[in-house]
Amino acid sequence: MMKEGNSALFELEVQLPDARLTAQAERLIGFKTRFERIHQDLLLLIDKEGLERWSKQHYHSRLPLLDSLLDRYPLVVFHGDVGTGKTATAEAVSNAIAKELGKEAMLFKLSTRVRGSGNVGEMSTLINQAFDLVCKEAGKAKLSFLIIDEADSLAASRSGHQSHHEDKVAVNTLIQKIDDIRRFNGRILVIFCTNRYEAIDPAILRRAAYVEKFSRPDDRERREIFNMDCAGMGMTAVMIDELVKLAGPQGPHKLSYTFSDIRTRLLPEALGLAYPSRKISQNDLVEAISRVHPSPTIEESGKR
Ligand SMILES: Nc1ncnc2c1ncn2[C@@H]1O[C@H](COP(=O)(O)OP(=O)(O)O)[C@@H](O)[C@H]1O
Ligand SMILES: [Mg+2]
Repeated sequence: MMKEGNSALFELEVQLPDARLTAQAERLIGFKTRFERIHQDLLLLIDKEGLERWSKQHYHSRLPLLDSLLDRYPLVVFHGDVGTGKTATAEAVSNAIAKELGKEAMLFKLSTRVRGSGNVGEMSTLINQAFDLVCKEAGKAKLSFLIIDEADSLAASRSGHQSHHEDKVAVNTLIQKIDDIRRFNGRILVIFCTNRYEAIDPAILRRAAYVEKFSRPDDRERREIFNMDCAGMGMTAVMIDELVKLAGPQGPHKLSYTFSDIRTRLLPEALGLAYPSRKISQNDLVEAISRVHPSPTIEESGKR
């Protein structure tokens, strides 16, 4: 069951596993491979009972190593350009882990509204309230996942020139909350998503138990997304190859399109050229590529 978070705190509050998120993962290119690679690291952060079973089974005792694991912070950071799938993956990963562990779980996605209206102490108060709710769920012996999207807006380095007192207080609160959730012994996992990794406060980055970078799709991944999204449209392999090339770094814009550029801008643009009178032609797709520009990289958007 999914409800749009109606509080000022969460954009999303979902009970896991969730059918919509399972379907979302199916349509994410590369999700399976990525999940296979990272899920082991995430389990070591969140599967306390599984680790205890493992220890009993193989050592007939509870190894001190398990306590050492609990010293880590249950924080992971996903970073990369806008539209490379960080948010969608964070949601899908939480869902897949909950499914794998067969446990009741809640997923919360913190709203950027917690930045508040700039009143003194407001941001910290909202961060505190959000973590309280997340902890309450974890207290009921459930797993609790918290996605902090656009985390740089809350956790920007305290040493920056533009850092205001209010922002510094918020970062301190965030650090304290991340320290606090360790006492939940791995029932809470926090995922930060950001396209400005370098802007995040070093004290937060130091706590991250796991960091995962997201990139624009390579040739193979662009082929996969075009094949998936253009299925049934009668595109030949040669046509698809041409699109893969044009949407890549060797195309007219010298910058690869992101997953999001292709799926949410390029393909709708081509559809718009054909709809409602005719089928989508290869020309429509090529025309769309010349009209829609790939999202700039962070460095480039900074220059504007
Ligand atoms: N790996 C992927 N495969 C297919 N589509 C993707 C992928 N990553 C992102 N997208 C598309 O881009 C949209 C935005 O992705 P999102 O996760 O919000 O990106 P980010 O958080 O990195 O900015 C998704 O809803 C989806 O349509
Ligand atoms: Mg995002």
